[in-house]
Amino acid sequence: MNAFDQILNRKESGSVKWDFMQQKLGLAGTDLLPMWVSDYDFKAPKVVLDALQQRIEHGIFGYAERDDAYYQATIDWYQNQHDTHVKREWITTVHGVLPGLAMALQMLTDKGDGIVMQSPGYGSFRKIIEFNDRVVVENPLTETEGEYQLDFDHLETCFANGAKAMIFCNPHNPTGRVWSESEITKVAELCEQYQVWLLSDEIWGDLVVGDAQYYSALRLPRNLTKRLIVATAASKTFGLSSLRISNFMIPDESLRAQFTRRLDAHGMDVFNSLSMSAATLAYQECSGWLTELKDYLRANITKLELFVQTQLPKVKFVSPQAGYLVWLDCRALNLTDTELEQKFVEAGLVPSMGIGFGKEGSGFVRLNLGCPVGTLDQALVRIKQALS
Ligand SMILES: Cc1ncc(COP(=O)(O)O)c(C=O)c1O
Repeated sequence: MNAFDQILNRKESGSVKWDFMQQKLGLAGTDLLPMWVSDYDFKAPKVVLDALQQRIEHGIFGYAERDDAYYQATIDWYQNQHDTHVKREWITTVHGVLPGLAMALQMLTDKGDGIVMQSPGYGSFRKIIEFNDRVVVENPLTETEGEYQLDFDHLETCFANGAKAMIFCNPHNPTGRVWSESEITKVAELCEQYQVWLLSDEIWGDLVVGDAQYYSALRLPRNLTKRLIVATAASKTFGLSSLRISNFMIPDESLRAQFTRRLDAHGMDVFNSLSMSAATLAYQECSGWLTELKDYLRANITKLELFVQTQLPKVKFVSPQAGYLVWLDCRALNLTDTELEQKFVEAGLVPSMGIGFGKEGSGFVRLNLGCPVGTLDQALVRIKQALS
């Protein structure tokens, strides 16, 4: 039996996905199967658990800093996995990607400024833009037959109209699109031309499951990285989200100094010793685990794809190039988003509703396949009940 096959009980573990689903989504009902929040129902790799255990046995949790092993493991990971050369001094560490992005927005832009994001796009980007009194400027992706593309003409108009920053998601949540080197270069060139700050969220970069190649914006030539901040994390990759750790990599020296000062201003210059041990060991020793995991995720994705093709002819499957989130186009069912959600909940399954990703997501749902195949089998019965 594959280790990922094991169905683990996550109830009563403080899990947002399992324990707080009704409360957070305002849903009634019991025996709901959660396929919303993007985290795994798998254990973290054993070497990571051993490292955490060892650190706990040490027993002292005084103030901690990142050591040489932490930096080197991070640098080696990007070099070996992604052919990306990261200099040690570029690395700043934040307690999560969203907090770091919010801080960068506060630092680089003013209240009322326009911040570009793609639509459909990750709902929490919208939240950090709006809760910081900035304005979301949508750059809708174009879609033909499930293929998503950036609309560069519209993007240029957003910049020409005065947007100050852009949150770029590569690979993209929710469509799973991996942007190419030429697309990323074009985005960065436009940012440079219009003096727009480029915040590239690359949290999904380790999880490419298709043939596409993840290209980090850190590989861009230096004339295109003066306004660039890249967010990366071991958290999504290795199932460590609640350990709250991410790295913000900033090639430009003065931008980096500004960001570091901002972290200091918030007292965020002390680090979590458990998170650092976990991230270090994950990067040092878990490339094999990740390869096996991606095979497993690919099999889950293929299973759902075949199911949709054979059982749900009106539903279109958008095949993710990265990640374990599947974007299902249910528009041909002619249901409102409320009706669509109701059908799922009545069938006992909780997806992320596409409308939560912006109006371009209306009629879609996003399903999280980061689960054992046995859980997916239960879900298929419920998906069929909801959609046929
Ligand atoms: C694109 C993207 N960025 C950031 C996050 C959250 O990152 P963190 O938990 O480190 O704040 C997620 C989580 O799903 C995500 O999909």
